[in-house]
Amino acid sequence: MTRITIQPTFNYSLIIKSLFSKKENKKNLFMSGRFAFEHAVREILKNHKDIDKILIPTVICEEIVTILHEIGIKIEFYNINRTLKIELNDIENKMQNSFPIILVVNYFGFPSEWKELLSLKKKNKCIFIEDNAHTLYSKLDDKELGLYGDLSFNSLRKILPLLSGSQLSSNTENIKLLNDEQHRFPTFSEFKYSIRNFKSKSNKRLLSEENNSTKYKPSMPIDIISKKIINNYKFDIKNIKNQRIENFKFWTQYLKHSNLTFFKGLEINNSICPYVFPCYAETDEIKDWWIKWGKDRNITIISWPKFHNSTKHFLHEEIMKRIICFPVNHQFDLREIIS
Ligand SMILES: Cc1ncc(COP(=O)(O)O)c(C=O)c1O
Repeated sequence: MTRITIQPTFNYSLIIKSLFSKKENKKNLFMSGRFAFEHAVREILKNHKDIDKILIPTVICEEIVTILHEIGIKIEFYNINRTLKIELNDIENKMQNSFPIILVVNYFGFPSEWKELLSLKKKNKCIFIEDNAHTLYSKLDDKELGLYGDLSFNSLRKILPLLSGSQLSSNTENIKLLNDEQHRFPTFSEFKYSIRNFKSKSNKRLLSEENNSTKYKPSMPIDIISKKIINNYKFDIKNIKNQRIENFKFWTQYLKHSNLTFFKGLEINNSICPYVFPCYAETDEIKDWWIKWGKDRNITIISWPKFHNSTKHFLHEEIMKRIICFPVNHQFDLREIIS
């Protein structure tokens, strides 16, 4: 039985298809979002010597914090409330008399409060990094997410069937990226991950579904196969988006009377391409029960984020430790599979 995974399974036929289609030449492609983020922060610091700190949300994965420790920049956390919205007063206070980088996450494919953030920028100097690790093809007011921050990065392999990939882009004349074109051969674990559905039942977590990386790892570029595909193959965006929306709606219905709580305000519509269906459990037991429920049915359900130890102290909302994510992977029509 095929496992319903959060991230799409690599499709080997795309290698062949990408040999015969139109060529692009996307620049600044990294192995994954964390490395694009690291490059972004280092580039900003090189160009702006008066940056004094970075503001990051309390709901953030540990890889981001690990990288910032390695860079050695001062970190301050700003609060995310229980509807996954930014506490704008908190951010505004922390911007006073300072020139910060501000990391803003579009959680799960849904837009952050960009209108309010951009009006704060008119009053206080700052540089926004837009974190689209969960986001590809979503829009806010007819403008693509990815065009709101000064710099922006995504995590292509979370939505598209690739071995690796994240693109960093600049939306401002003030920060010019070097147009890096590096690539490398796929690693053994990327290859293993790409055939995870052919492997016999193994409960081991492999590479990217939930990467375990407390330790800092030096940056790597995208692998050459994913680079070829992302440059040459035209993905059917409409189809990907529609199926993900349908799968998101499926979980909304399926879990409606369950013991899980939905995030108020995460309303699905045609502007959104969701990464997962996120909700939270009131207790650790309920969270673990659902993860096991998934395991028994070959459905990958994950708890996100894995917090860095230094972050937990700043979390105002305990529920953020019990967020669970159900797959909306467009390679499956959940209405036909789960009853
Ligand atoms: C919000 C957020 N930002 C950045 C990252 C890092 O992305 P990647 O796994 O592609 O390195 C993640 C990973 O899950 C994430 O959830």
